[in-house]
Amino acid sequence: MAKQSKISCCFLVFVLVNLIFWNVVLSVRAENEFISAVGDSGMRRDNLRVAIESWNQCNEVGEEALQIGSPRAADCFDIYKATPQPQGEVCFCNQQLPYVLVHRVTEQDNKLRMGEPFFGLQAESQFNVDLYAAEKELYLGFKCQVEDTPNPWQFWMIMLKSGNMDTYAAKCPKNGHRVGPFPDQNTFPCFGKGCMNQPSIYHDYTKLQLPDMTLKGRFFGSWDLDADLSRGMVGNISYHSVTWEKKLGEGSWVFHHVLRTSAKYPWLMLYLRSDATHGFSGGYHYPTRGMSKIIPESPNFKVRFTLNVIKGGGPSSQFYLMDMGSCWKNNGKPCDGNVTSDVTRYSEMIINPNTTSWCHANNLNVCPPYHTFPNGTRVHRNDTARFPYAAYHLYCSPGNGEHLEAPFNLCDPYSNPQPQEILQILPHPVWGEYGYPTKQGEGWIGDPRTWELDVGRLSQSLYFYQDPGTPPARRQWMSIDLGVEIFKDPDQVAEWTLSDFDILVPKQ
Ligand SMILES: *[C@@H]1O[C@H](CO)[C@@H](O)[C@H](O)[C@H]1NC(C)=O
Ligand SMILES: *[C@@H]1O[C@H](CO)[C@@H](O)[C@H](O)[C@H]1NC(C)=O
Ligand SMILES: *[C@@H]1O[C@H](CO)[C@@H](O)[C@H](O)[C@H]1NC(C)=O
Ligand SMILES: *[C@@H]1O[C@H](CO)[C@@H](O)[C@H](O)[C@H]1NC(C)=O
Ligand SMILES: *[C@@H]1O[C@H](CO)[C@@H](O)[C@H](O)[C@H]1NC(C)=O
Repeated sequence: MAKQSKISCCFLVFVLVNLIFWNVVLSVRAENEFISAVGDSGMRRDNLRVAIESWNQCNEVGEEALQIGSPRAADCFDIYKATPQPQGEVCFCNQQLPYVLVHRVTEQDNKLRMGEPFFGLQAESQFNVDLYAAEKELYLGFKCQVEDTPNPWQFWMIMLKSGNMDTYAAKCPKNGHRVGPFPDQNTFPCFGKGCMNQPSIYHDYTKLQLPDMTLKGRFFGSWDLDADLSRGMVGNISYHSVTWEKKLGEGSWVFHHVLRTSAKYPWLMLYLRSDATHGFSGGYHYPTRGMSKIIPESPNFKVRFTLNVIKGGGPSSQFYLMDMGSCWKNNGKPCDGNVTSDVTRYSEMIINPNTTSWCHANNLNVCPPYHTFPNGTRVHRNDTARFPYAAYHLYCSPGNGEHLEAPFNLCDPYSNPQPQEILQILPHPVWGEYGYPTKQGEGWIGDPRTWELDVGRLSQSLYFYQDPGTPPARRQWMSIDLGVEIFKDPDQVAEWTLSDFDILVPKQ
């Protein structure tokens, strides 16, 4: 009896130990279990959702291009197998292809221009060129939306932007405040009246091509509205093009990007973004539509993608291996659309090896006040022996920061509807811990790679300004993107492909 109770006692202990052990194993596993935060995980879904938007210097429309309409368009479709029905109720008998591609967005939708009504358009937006575009994006999102858990999602977003600014036109606010016309100190390119125009955007709707079952479509155009694009990118014109291609049922979409600057448009940007599916996205003060059905938050998320840089865009091209945009107020509170107190926060790694560190020991105003190593050790920028100056290209402070540490350099006050803060980093051993390039040239031309970046932990470690004594902001990244900014350098071409893009977040 006694012996038996001893055995069952042992057995009980055994069961308990086992239970605890497996609980620990399972919870560790759950902690390491990631799910995709984007609707189209790894860009593998045949039924593509992609849209395009174009911004002027301060992320508005300003003026529509005459023949093009409001600069928002989308290509969203579903593929159905066209099997002849023996009962004869639905018959695709005349169909050439074994599949039918049903587009959700018509040419009429894409051509919508200010003044033309559409379903859901608010009366006050119909004749306001900026609000009209923002609502057109919502309308296109409504047509493209895919139901999913925990949230529906809409599309990948191709973003175009021109840095031209006519300071005499007084179109862009300064740190969110309206300002009148002023003479430019050679900061912004502008060839004269109308230099802030929107580009042409042409569209080849996605088609299924036989015999190799390849899906292919494209958006392209030019800021030079008189350019003849029928022969492609010829002559000294500005140019943008994104082609998407995929084998039916196989692999990832491959997005092939081309951007060219010209004498009239020397400062251009082209990105592919995973934006928030509701609320604001990075740099945009209107409700947005996008691909991130879950907003990734530091420190727990990773970004995976394959990048092949074909042409770099010249020495002044800031090719962003990873660009993230968020918004929080200097007191740590989330943004609410008030453009004078909201602050857009950006961070990006520039992988063009021509980009050097502007931050160094005798130029501290463009270094963040401190660097945080992965073990938590903080090193102040005046600690010349330990601060990794070469890891930083440029840091600039928000124009509405009231307790900035001197010396500082304020960010460009015009290029966003609200003040901004930017931290640009360079390949360096201090980022190796997070899977980022550690040497100049890694991931650059001739070195295509699949990256898995611990963007969450890296972005948690970066310095961003907050008023002293305020609780730290939640760093939620509404926009995660890749692409190029060619900075004031005419006649340069950047070309690259992007595929397999995913954002991974912990399961719970
Ligand atoms: C294009 O610009 C380059 C440099 O600015 C110049 O050398 C070339 O002649 C131009 N080509 C054409 C076709 O205008
Ligand atoms: C926007 O923020 C500024 C600065 O905090 C504040 O003075 C202003 O009242 C706010 N505007 C609105 C409409 O809340
Ligand atoms: C840019 O980098 C390339 C390759 O490293 C080099 O050949 C070229 O001289 C650099 N140009 C400038 C302006 O630094
Ligand atoms: C933290 O890391 C830095 C850089 O690698 C190193 O210099 C420092 O000694 C480390 N501190 C601790 C407490 O381990
Ligand atoms: C470095 O900066 C810190 C913080 O502002 C300051 O306390 C310290 O005195 C500075 N050290 C030197 C050597 O300037």
